[in-house]
Parts: sequence; C-alpha cells; structure tokens
Amino acid sequence: MNIGIDQISFYTSQYFLDLRTLAEARGVDPDKYVVGIGQSKMGIPPPDEDIVTMAASAAFQLQERGALDGVETLLFATESGIDQSKAAGMFVHGLLGLPARCRVVELKQACYSATAALRMAMGLVAMKPESRVLIIAADVARYELGSPGESTQGCGAVAFTVAADPRLMTIDSEAGFFADDVMDFWRPNYLSEAQVDGKYSTMVYIKALKAAWKQYAEESGRTLDDFARFCYHIPFTRMAAKAHQKLARGISDEELEGGIGESLIYSREAGNCYSASLYVGLTSLLDNCAEDLAGRRIGLYSYGSGCVGEFFSGVAQPGYQNALLTEVHQKLLEERTELTFRQYEDIYHYGIPVDGEQHVFAQYRTGPFRFAGIEAHKRIYEPA
Ligand code: CAA
Repeated sequence: MNIGIDQISFYTSQYFLDLRTLAEARGVDPDKYVVGIGQSKMGIPPPDEDIVTMAASAAFQLQERGALDGVETLLFATESGIDQSKAAGMFVHGLLGLPARCRVVELKQACYSATAALRMAMGLVAMKPESRVLIIAADVARYELGSPGESTQGCGAVAFTVAADPRLMTIDSEAGFFADDVMDFWRPNYLSEAQVDGKYSTMVYIKALKAAWKQYAEESGRTLDDFARFCYHIPFTRMAAKAHQKLARGISDEELEGGIGESLIYSREAGNCYSASLYVGLTSLLDNCAEDLAGRRIGLYSYGSGCVGEFFSGVAQPGYQNALLTEVHQKLLEERTELTFRQYEDIYHYGIPVDGEQHVFAQYRTGPFRFAGIEAHKRIYEPA
C-alpha cells in the first residue's frame, strides 16, 4: 500500500525582523547573518499569535480544500508547549470544529517529533486505509537577546495530511535513525528562551546525520545518486548546506544549490520553526522547484536536539503540483509587515501574564485565528 503526504500547508507570523536590522543594532557585519548563517528575515509572532493560532491557520487552508474530511487523528508536534496537561491540538480541534470522533495528542522530542508523528500516522493508515491523519508541527524559536542564537529565531507551522494513495509524496518504508542522550539544546520548563551549546549542537546534528544515513543506505541499498533533491532540518539555512556537503563530499556550489536550493527559500524568510522546519523545507521545495519531480525520490533528514536524527525518503507523485498551495504561501510571505528593531524588542519583552487574572490582548495582524487573552488561567482563542 502506498502511504504518504497528501497535502501540506505552511503558515508563519504576519511580522518579521530583517536580519540586516538586527545586525546593525548588534554591531555585527550583516554578511555574517545573511551569508554565514544564511538567513534573511525572522518571523516574529505578535502577542496574540502562538503555536495554536499558527497551527490552526496552517490547517485551516487544508480544511477549506476538503483535505481534512475523514481525519480521525490529530498529532501535534511542538517544543513550545503552552500547557503541561492539555494538548495544544485540543484548541485547534475546537477552532476548526473537527469531529468529536478524533484522537488528539501532543508529541515532543525537540525538532524531531513531527517525523515521529509521520511514522505513527503511517501505521494508523496502514491499519485503516480509508482513514486520514492530520499532523501539525508548530513552534516559536526564541533565544536570549544578544546571544549567538538570536539571529536564528523564527516561527511557523506546517499542517499535512497522511493518507493512502497520497497526492504529493509516498513515504518509503526504509529509514535510518539514531538517538543519543546529549545536552546540545534544551529548554527547562521555567524558561521561555532555549538554552544551547551552539557549536556542539552543530556537531551533534552532523554526527546523527552520518549515523542515520549509513543505516538508511545499508537498509535500502540506495546511494546519493538515487535522489533528485534533499530536505534537511533547517535551524538556519547554512546548517542544511553544511549537512549536505558532509553527505555529498566534494560537491560543487552548483551541485549544492541543485540538491537543496529550493528547499531553503521559505526558511530563509521565516527563520527556525523547530519541529516544522524540515516540512517547511519540503513545502518550499515542492512549491519552488521548476523541474517536474514526479516519480523522483527525495531524501529527508529530521533532527531533534537531545538528540534523535532520522534519514528517510519519499517519492513525488504524478500531478503533485495540483495539490500544492504555492500561491497561498507566496502571498503570505509577500504581505508580511516589517518590524523596527524597537518593535521587535517590545514584542520580545511582552511576557504572557501568569497571574491568572483576566487579560485582553491588543489585536495585531494574524491569520484566521487569534489568541484573544487569558481568563482564570485559561487561554481564550477566537476567530480574527
Ligand atoms: N561574512 C560572511 N560570513 C561570516 C562573517 C562575515 N562577515 N562573519 C562570520 N561569518 C561566518 C562564519 O565564518 C561562520 O561560518 P562557518 O560556520 O562556515 O565557519 C558563520 O558565519 C557563523 O559564524 P560563527 O560560527 O562565528 O557564529 P556564532 O558562533 O556566533 O553562531 C551558532 C553560530 C553557534 C550556530 C548560533 O547561531 C547558535 O547558537 N544557533 C542556535 C543553535 C542551532 O541552531 N544549532 C544548530 C544545530 S541544533 C538544531 O538543529 C536544533 C535546532 O533547531 C535548534
């Protein structure tokens, strides 16, 4: 049975900070961010946007196209959880009015969990081929102001459906995966900014990639020549480039661009979306690739600090272009509002109140849903 990704939708905040603005404020050469890190802008969520509203906005585009009909399970991947007990997906279930006959659960393993969700979804669809699973990955990447990680912030969500005979891409059964108990990146419950051992994290990312690829290659018998394109987890686009250079040793700049270039376009604009990042890369590739990839194999590398890495693959399906939301994604990125450095810092310092009192948030630009406020420690969401 062919199982895989039927349709995919990407959402990021309506506001961004240009990394040249950040560089000027921090007294850094802008080329360090734009060339060395490989990022142009970072998505910044206003106070009334969070992982729930971004997730619901991404999934709403699928719902409008009938792609959520038959969904029996909603798997929500995030490392920016908003509650220790209630899954963020429950709020999305409510906002979208999904059927009561639905399993909803939240998954966590840093940026890896959407890939775990994909594997679980494939099992569910294999057991019941007429059913569909909705996977949503949503995150806000946030580091301390002035820290090395600051320029790699961002936010976004990806929603995708997993089904039999998918329109976009079948997922191969072979996979190589690797786990190691390390402290390269983490966020204790009492902090709102991630802690990171930056250089070490880049080394662990590559170590896990090498181990995962080796296993995948042994299991599948495939070589790098069997792939039309590659998508990597993208904490910043230069990291994906370095990863690909490690796998495909000695490749030229043209070959590097040909292998991963289209997959980096959206991430360069939105910044790190943690659990969503690999799938933002896949969306970017499918939306922006001028070549018809139908029948061609795409290699995917998922990495979550802490750490788990998985290399897997999929085959683009004939006519996949008809199921893409390219115009929606491009319009979203084109119509965002640029923040001044002052506005960026103000939003950064706007902490979510924790006193349980009633708070009403000012209305900013969001997608179809907004985080309206808090009452008796309950988050209130509403249509925008
Ligand atoms: N012009 C062009 N390039 C320049 C430059 C200039 N003026 N100045 C510096 N550069 C280059 C550097 O040479 C370097 O390139 P190479 O790596 O190819 O040598 C690059 O810009 C970055 O410079 P630094 O290494 O000096 O940057 P830094 O140490 O200040 O920060 C970082 C880099 C440690 C990765 C930091 O961004 C960070 O901590 N980021 C967060 C952690 C992260 O994203 N880790 C990735 C792996 S973990 C993961 O993937 C999970 C996740 O999502 C977080």
